[in-house]
Amino acid sequence: SNNYLNLSDGNKMPQQGFGVYKITDQAEFDQAIESAWNHGYRLFDTAQMYKNEQNLGDSLKKLNVPRDEMFITTKISEANQGYDGSINSLKESLKKLQMDYVDLLLIHWPINTDFFETWRAFEDIKKSGLAKSIGVSNYDMVHLQYLATQAHEMPVINQIEVSPLMSQKPMLKFNAENNIITQAWSPLGRGKVLNHPTILAVAKDTGKSTAQVILRWHLQNGIAIIPKSIHDERIAQNADIYDFELSTLQMEQMDSVNTNHRVSKEPELVYEFGEQYPY
Ligand code: A2P
Repeated sequence: SNNYLNLSDGNKMPQQGFGVYKITDQAEFDQAIESAWNHGYRLFDTAQMYKNEQNLGDSLKKLNVPRDEMFITTKISEANQGYDGSINSLKESLKKLQMDYVDLLLIHWPINTDFFETWRAFEDIKKSGLAKSIGVSNYDMVHLQYLATQAHEMPVINQIEVSPLMSQKPMLKFNAENNIITQAWSPLGRGKVLNHPTILAVAKDTGKSTAQVILRWHLQNGIAIIPKSIHDERIAQNADIYDFELSTLQMEQMDSVNTNHRVSKEPELVYEFGEQYPY
């Protein structure tokens, strides 16, 4: 049921994964990861900033499954950016995860300092095999255009906030035109959009839950998703979205919910690149 997407570097990535932001209790972690695995999730997404790479590593170890059946993502925090910071902190992350490599390494947020140096480290990390694929997170078009002025290879993923409240259609289009897969974090808007009347109406039409129609809307927009839940029944429900389809009209109803509302901070603004910025 879980589709794989082709990345522009030749690797494959599950379209649907499991986000672990804010899960920190080990017992809760073990239960969530086991539940997710049993319901078919193979991609697990963490970050240095979440402070739970060790928890994830411990939980995955208990599953006792082959490494190459998992797809693991982590992200270099803002504090660890720069050439040496990226490489050294990745090695720390790998120790915590108890792995030799990650499948996907992302720059967590664009920052002004070390903008190109961090990416140069990422290109070397990919060459060394410590990450199979490299990408970015929370990059706007301008950040990607700026990166393109010096990058030898471009990110294969841009993981950004996308939900019915923050549909990001222009950014999705830009990523797609540049062979960058969009991966949505907080695809359910951190759960804040589950009682929206329009989405409730679409859910009623389809006989599915609001979470399911939201996740289905993302899939039909061609993007990857990493919903988070600690509850077995919801983890199962969120994976059970491959046996129905939203009509064009229902997709338009879902699109109409957008208010450009972020649940988190804005990426640093373009003018902060100052005179360096070429556009
Ligand atoms: P919980 O972990 O208690 O199940 P997002 O992935 O957009 O950040 O959303 C995560 C939030 O949505 C969490 O608070 C999670 O709660 C909740 N959530 C996830 N899946 C469902 C679901 N199927 N039904 C209701 N709430 C859900």
